[in-house]
Amino acid sequence: MPMNDTATTNDSATMKDTTRGYVDLHCHYLPAIDDGVRTTEDGVALCQGLHQIGYAQVVATPHIRTAMFENNKPGLEQALAQFRQDTEHTSGMPDTGLGAEHFFDDVFWSLFQNNGAVPYPGGKAMLVELPDQAIPLGTSQRMFEMRVKGIRPVLAHPERYRPLFKKSDELEGLVRVGALPLLDIMSLAGKYGRKPKRAAERMIKEQLYYAACSDCHRPTDVPLVAEGIDRLTHLVGAEAATAMLSDHPRAILAGTAP
Ligand SMILES: [Fe+2]
Repeated sequence: MPMNDTATTNDSATMKDTTRGYVDLHCHYLPAIDDGVRTTEDGVALCQGLHQIGYAQVVATPHIRTAMFENNKPGLEQALAQFRQDTEHTSGMPDTGLGAEHFFDDVFWSLFQNNGAVPYPGGKAMLVELPDQAIPLGTSQRMFEMRVKGIRPVLAHPERYRPLFKKSDELEGLVRVGALPLLDIMSLAGKYGRKPKRAAERMIKEQLYYAACSDCHRPTDVPLVAEGIDRLTHLVGAEAATAMLSDHPRAILAGTAP
């Protein structure tokens, strides 16, 4: 299990939680780079908070979205390197890593085809988000092409897209071509309101999610993540919850997701 040496210096409760070894594939802890934390101190507090509730590794996924978050691969790599340097001697931190939350538009598609997008560590998968209001025509074709090229599209928070609030047909189509739906665990705690919460509960029943993530943007999100984990465990049982929080994110990174 990937674990920071410093984890062993924490109290017994923390150690017990840490051994669950969750892996977070969606989090905004790199400071002042998107709508996530503004300072390194808050980035550290966010990471330490997630570590306390059981996360062994937290992958940073800053937004890449034209006209909103003009990030690029070298800039994000530099930001992670700086964060690692700044936190080198900080205790209670999970392992880190880099991906990006790519807005799934023509700009992304051009980046993807020209090696400018940011895959997860290991290079086997990539996080994408869709517009809230409508799933663009051609999405499944592009996701299929990603899979053919050896990069699984991991779909951020499907429960938060309006076309999927009441039914999952369009999501099922994306899953058929290889997309891996990633539950935003705070949806279960009501962070985004009633409709995403209900959609998440339905998609869980429909067994559409492959894994779950935090999508934390600030340290105060951590208690909602903990509440969401409790809700998920209540809905699917401890074994399936651990699979979604730990085993399946690891499979995504290893390129062994079915
Ligand atoms: Fe996000």
